Amino acid sequence: MAQRKIQIHCNSQTETEGLAAKLAQIAKPGDLFALTGDLGAGKSTFARAFIRSLLDSPEAEVPSPTFTLVQAYEGPDYPVYHADLYRLHDPEEVYDLGLDDERAEAVMLIEWPDRLPEEWLQEASEISLVRAEKVGGQQGDDEARTVMITSDDDTIMALGE
Ligand SMILES: Nc1ncnc2c1ncn2[C@@H]1O[C@H](COP(=O)(O)OP(=O)(O)OP(=O)(O)O)[C@@H](O)[C@H]1O
Ligand SMILES: [Mg+2]
Repeated sequence: MAQRKIQIHCNSQTETEGLAAKLAQIAKPGDLFALTGDLGAGKSTFARAFIRSLLDSPEAEVPSPTFTLVQAYEGPDYPVYHADLYRLHDPEEVYDLGLDDERAEAVMLIEWPDRLPEEWLQEASEISLVRAEKVGGQQGDDEARTVMITSDDDTIMALGE
């Protein structure tokens, strides 16, 4: 299916978190979200807001999976896996993490997805977070992000409307 791309501008972390919460409400088992962007762009922050929305638990503990590589959550209808593959070197290592068995039944939020095997990436929707250009050093620019979503899923594309 043809992939389409939308851009959503967020002026604040709260706006980015709101977008993540909306995505959580339309996500379905089998969805794989590839979270891309530089160090500190907000991938873990986005995943945290997504998971808290799905669990309907605004205070839920959602640590960055930087060291554990994978964190698992039991949503009301399906599990969610939040992974950070930064420390993987070979796409084959992803099979050691046990994610493959869960792919069809779970939602995956994957940071540093460039480490994934090619066939996983082909099925993914990409959520790319980019720090918005600083405009004249105005206050508040630190939180501005452009979120680019690439997907073949019309429901997800409707987030841009
Ligand atoms: N609009 C925003 N969206 C997301 N995070 C934001 C935003 N504005 C500010 N931040 C801050 O930016 C930081 C993002 O850190 P986070 O750990 O989410 O990044 P990351 O992309 O996961 O980095 P890493 O590559 O190290 O895993 C947090 O301190 C967060 O509070
Ligand atoms: Mg992170």
